[in-house]
Amino acid sequence: MNPIMQTMLNHRSIRSYQERPIDPDLLEQILGCGQAASSSSFIQAYSVLRVSDPDNRKTIASAAGGQRWVIEAAEFLVLCADLQRVQYACEKNGAGPLLGHTEHFISATVDTALLAQNILLAAESAGLGGVFIGGIRNDPQRVSECLELPDQVYPVCGLCLGWPAQQVQQKPRMPLPAILHQDRYRQQDLPHQVDDYDEQIARYYQQRGSNVKLSNWTEQTAQAIQGKTREHMLAFLQARGFLRR
Ligand SMILES: Cc1cc2nc3c(=O)[nH]c(=O)nc-3n(C[C@H](O)[C@H](O)[C@H](O)COP(=O)(O)O)c2cc1C
Repeated sequence: MNPIMQTMLNHRSIRSYQERPIDPDLLEQILGCGQAASSSSFIQAYSVLRVSDPDNRKTIASAAGGQRWVIEAAEFLVLCADLQRVQYACEKNGAGPLLGHTEHFISATVDTALLAQNILLAAESAGLGGVFIGGIRNDPQRVSECLELPDQVYPVCGLCLGWPAQQVQQKPRMPLPAILHQDRYRQQDLPHQVDDYDEQIARYYQQRGSNVKLSNWTEQTAQAIQGKTREHMLAFLQARGFLRR
């Protein structure tokens, strides 16, 4: 196991931070690592909004359902899918405007996700901790207004970063055979694999140091996915120029 793999396997989301800033040079290096991620057709369809204004932090924390770590983190970034520069490239080369193709939405969103994960991983490798904030999509309109995001840009998720002030037990992932298929998809194994994992996660929830609960993976997942349909997203994205065809 090399040190990069160890850093990856050591991941846990951190939501409590020391009152200690992140050196600007370190932040720049971390963001550079984010940009080093692969990019679909090299379009680099993302922007990072570094939110330092305390009022904006409060607005976004509230839009995200009152997540105080958005206010408390040393750094808070909003990672946006951004087709503005791609649109400029098309105009500059007489290729016509972007028309909101689903494929372009997927490319920009995947690029942003890869950037995001690289940023968090680089931060963790430097001893920082962080957590993504999908909660910003509870009210993407308010977040976009607050950050003055133009058309062709949407906030995919936030990212809190800071020096950790908590010890967090790791959440066990699914056993590899549950997600790895050899040559063809094996659906018949799904129920017993997930049921076994339910038992593992139930033990984890009962034994962990904080937020002990009587639950399992399927119960949490069903609740989380049905509770976060964010019905406003399609109209919001279409209004911003995405997902029109
Ligand atoms: C796209 C994305 C959005 C997330 N949004 C939130 C969020 O709004 N608030 C939060 O506390 N955690 C958020 N998380 C963190 C997940 O809850 C966390 O990754 C998951 O429970 C697994 O725990 P771990 O990261 O500690 O292994 C998000 C994670 C991802 C990947």
